[in-house]
Amino acid sequence: MMKKFLDLGRQPIANAYLTKEDFANEFFYNLEVGFDEETKLVSLINQIKPEKMFVDDYPYHSSSSSTMKNHFKEAAQTIKTIFGNDVRVLEIGSNDGVFLKNFDKNKAVAVEPCKNFAQMTNEMGYRTYDEFWTESLAEKICGENGSFDVVYSANCLCHMPSVFDAYKAIFKVLKSGGTLISECPSMFSVLKNTAYDQLYNEHPHLLSLTSTNNLLKEAGFSMINSTDLECHGGSYRVFAGKGNYFAQIDGLDKEKLAGLHEFSTYERFAQKVEKSKTLLRGILEGVGGKTISYGATAKSSTVFNYCGIDSSLISYIVDTTKEKQGKFSPGVHIPIISREEANFDDVSHIFLGAWNYLKEIREKEKTFNGNFITHVPFPNILPSA
Ligand code: TMP
Repeated sequence: MMKKFLDLGRQPIANAYLTKEDFANEFFYNLEVGFDEETKLVSLINQIKPEKMFVDDYPYHSSSSSTMKNHFKEAAQTIKTIFGNDVRVLEIGSNDGVFLKNFDKNKAVAVEPCKNFAQMTNEMGYRTYDEFWTESLAEKICGENGSFDVVYSANCLCHMPSVFDAYKAIFKVLKSGGTLISECPSMFSVLKNTAYDQLYNEHPHLLSLTSTNNLLKEAGFSMINSTDLECHGGSYRVFAGKGNYFAQIDGLDKEKLAGLHEFSTYERFAQKVEKSKTLLRGILEGVGGKTISYGATAKSSTVFNYCGIDSSLISYIVDTTKEKQGKFSPGVHIPIISREEANFDDVSHIFLGAWNYLKEIREKEKTFNGNFITHVPFPNILPSA
């Protein structure tokens, strides 16, 4: 049974950037979060239909930061090292091909429901199915391509209405002895960093290793290994094989000690989220000068809408993504401009909408003399270098 522990209020679709003409018809929903006592899975109580989110002009490019480009190159290299250069890979949620491009065109097949990206990777020469991941698609892909040694999926399974159904479909396309490698933001890091901004419509579920393990078992898999990743502010890379066998997973013990299987842990998290909001508003209202935000992220959409932060506190947002520039952020309607358009001479503070890229941003903005503001692991002001 799902028990509610957090209410982040009225929220827009996080990756839906708007023109002024769109304001009147903007869609909102209530972002409430619950914990399932049986599977230990954290999920949004009101889920948005995938077709409403993963649209054909979806704006988020996985290769929009060098951090993520390097990450996917490393992931591909790891897979080739473990499984050999001839490994046959199916990627679910291939976005702009940032992972795929590290493989031979005849070795990797992809699934990507956003047609803008599917067209891009098809043109690059990688067979890409522009559909949502389902058991019937799995059967079709298997029929047309045979089964796969590895299924890789990064930041995608937690986007699906049912993670369990996604695993069951993956079971169908993997060879016996095949491996599922999935990456998703880590619930452990969310709790540790009070990173409530990982909660938005595109993440109907936030997975812990504990819930992942329970769902994998139910779908006929066993978790073989897991590694912690730095990306997206803390993620897991989980390896799972078909069948029922035992592997010692240290992360599961760590989560048990931290209480990720207990509802009371999430209730305490909700209290910290409430405090984070008060502190962040206090900082933004108190600093004076001109504050802007770096990265028009889905995460910052949750923060701004939950904390009621609009253009009276954040003058504008800079973002490298062409599709976001010239538009307004969801819900609170802060203007988004390119970095080139922005002049930081009169900017005293930069809020880190993309806090997970702090290192990369500091490197790029060496000449900025003001301070950064972040809300993780708690709201505070950081020096620029
Ligand atoms: P993400 O946190 O979901 O990966 O989104 C990162 C967003 O931040 C994406 O829109 C690109 C943007 N961004 C910049 O505009 N400049 C940067 O230097 C970095 C690292 C990201």
